Amino acid sequence: YEIYLNGLTGAVPRLPTDLTRLEELAERMLGPGPFGYVAGNAGSGSTARANRAALDRWRIVPRVLRDVHRRDLSVEVLGRPLPAPLALAPVGVLSIMHAEAETAAARAAAARDVPFILSSASSTPMERVAEAMGDAERWFQLYWPKDPDVTRSFLDRAKAAGYTALFVTLDTPMLGWRPRDLDQAYLPFLHGVGTANYYTDPAFLAGLAKPVREDPEAALRHFLGMFGDPAKSWPDLAFLREHWDGPMVLKGVLHPDDARRAADAGMDGVVVSNHGGRQVAGSVAAADALPHVVQAAGDRLTVLFDSGVRTGDDVFKALALGARAVLVGRPYAYGLGLEGQAGVDHVIRCLLAELDLVLGLAGHAGPGSVTSGDLVREFA
Ligand code: FNR
Repeated sequence: YEIYLNGLTGAVPRLPTDLTRLEELAERMLGPGPFGYVAGNAGSGSTARANRAALDRWRIVPRVLRDVHRRDLSVEVLGRPLPAPLALAPVGVLSIMHAEAETAAARAAAARDVPFILSSASSTPMERVAEAMGDAERWFQLYWPKDPDVTRSFLDRAKAAGYTALFVTLDTPMLGWRPRDLDQAYLPFLHGVGTANYYTDPAFLAGLAKPVREDPEAALRHFLGMFGDPAKSWPDLAFLREHWDGPMVLKGVLHPDDARRAADAGMDGVVVSNHGGRQVAGSVAAADALPHVVQAAGDRLTVLFDSGVRTGDDVFKALALGARAVLVGRPYAYGLGLEGQAGVDHVIRCLLAELDLVLGLAGHAGPGSVTSGDLVREFA
């Protein structure tokens, strides 16, 4: 209604309300460095395409005459009441997109009560982002450092700064083969490198022979050396469980057996995700993995979903396939690059408004009643 009323005075939205068009706008408006960093995929992009195709193959079956005049998008996720089944996914090094980086994105999320998941690889220290968010819901994403002292220090800092849930990303012990980044020799990434949480960390700094300023190269090497750890295995999770008493969620789970193991390890949830197609080329589409993980999880885990969500109907489909809520990554990163905080706000509002309409048109007053019966599968 707001867009319609503004339209009476001749004002049209500054960004497209079809969020699938944000990417082409970003390609035109942002430089190849920032655009390539966000748009980049593993290999030739087959996983990102599969993510979209899998969501598109499901079709919603609208219902009529179900009294949906009063609708409520709220859900409970990890024990927290949320206004809608949506959170902003962790996206590292947002300073590549906008000078205000994570702070602007977090403020936009906070203003709409949408949880913001701060990346370990953020370009702003976690305490500064927390300060910008007041008491709004925030979650911390862990790229699990090799050094247990740094890991513990991150968890302690995140807790002290009011991050209530921990998202442990497990699909990135090594970065995937990403031609866009490789072809640019990771230059945009290195310019905005996501070391802020590390370079403000006492345990990390204690491992350096000289202060960062005196030997920046050694500091960077130290960071790169501990960033990922392909030697980790299931028993190691006990360490995290011991040092984090809030909800803990494993991000990047696609196999039902991994979901079962997550539940056995005392985890609270999983994010069915293939990192937006950035890690494994040729990977199963996240939406195709979702129902299998949901089944394996039963009522032992909260199942969240990301990878390819662009519209309200995508969110609806994920809910119908059993997700409790979804995360979005690229759309808000493009919004941030194009219009800063206002761009992120635009993305959040479009997604929520469209979801609200799709829910109502599909005959639901809220997310709780959506089931797989609302979808049919289209065979090409
Ligand atoms: C990511 N993602 C990510 N995930 C994570 O756990 N930590 C991180 O630091 C990052 N960084 C990151 C940077 C960029 C530029 C992108 C596009 C993605 C993955 C992210 O959290 C999420 O899984 C995907 O973005 C979801 O797919 P869509 O919504 O981008 O299609």
